Amino acid sequence: MLIKKAIFPVAGLGTRFLPATKAQPKEMLPVVDKPLIQYAVEEAYAAGIRQMIFVTGRSKRAIPDHFDSAPELEYELEASGKRELLELVRTIKPDDMECIYIRQAKALGLGHAVLCAECVVVNEPFAVLLADDLMVGEPPVLQQMVEQFREWKTSILAVQEVPADHTRRYGIVAGTPVSDRMMDVTRIVEKPAPEHAPSRLGVAGRYILTPDVFTEIRQQPRGVGGEIQLTDGIAGLLRRQKVFAYTYQGKRYDCGSKEGFLQANIELGLVHPEIGAGMREYLKTLTL
Ligand code: G1P
Repeated sequence: MLIKKAIFPVAGLGTRFLPATKAQPKEMLPVVDKPLIQYAVEEAYAAGIRQMIFVTGRSKRAIPDHFDSAPELEYELEASGKRELLELVRTIKPDDMECIYIRQAKALGLGHAVLCAECVVVNEPFAVLLADDLMVGEPPVLQQMVEQFREWKTSILAVQEVPADHTRRYGIVAGTPVSDRMMDVTRIVEKPAPEHAPSRLGVAGRYILTPDVFTEIRQQPRGVGGEIQLTDGIAGLLRRQKVFAYTYQGKRYDCGSKEGFLQANIELGLVHPEIGAGMREYLKTLTL
């Protein structure tokens, strides 16, 4: 069983990044020289996924434009002999990659966004990637999860340990370890207060889910924040079938927060082939 489809919920308003996100999607904010959404799409592609399903909303036109061809730009680059840049622009969407756009007319929550893609996913396991979470890993985090899926053939959530006072930011899971990095989930709670959190293992924005989750999401009342939560759908799912939590190898940057976003820019800037050495020198000159 292969994972062929990935859902990217990108309809959120990005209010935490205002004014930067007043007229542009938060997923288009660049880390060094690439928009956040491109990192997530590249991660899915590296995991063997070829059908990318974007659940978008109003004011998000820049996303389909980014993954479309740009004839004027390509013509200009070709005419001025900028072959490398031309290649860079053309490979944003490889020929064997398909992009599908679905509109989420109402921002009813992450669970609702995933449900909007049911008509395209239908009846096969799929991935969900939240572009806010920029993941750096080798192999890439979703690929690690796809490899685990091949073995366990059931839903897998990426998790990491989070500080006790951060449990309110995450879906928190508890369960029984089945191997070094894998846990059989027995409970999942969306954004609990530290005193109610069943553990300190927080869900990062990468999921592999079986299609049965759609039925579960549909049955959920509005949860935390008045939204239809993916976490609540997963809580329903684990009453019917196994759900595993995988402690991924790699690093996550919470690019939904200003701090995480700037950290990602600094750290990825430091290893960037073009500007890394210069950045290192520059940072040394800062007296903090
Ligand atoms: C969402 C999920 C949450 C998960 C988090 C990961 O929350 O609802 O369970 O832990 O993503 O980033 P959000 O960050 O959209 O509030």
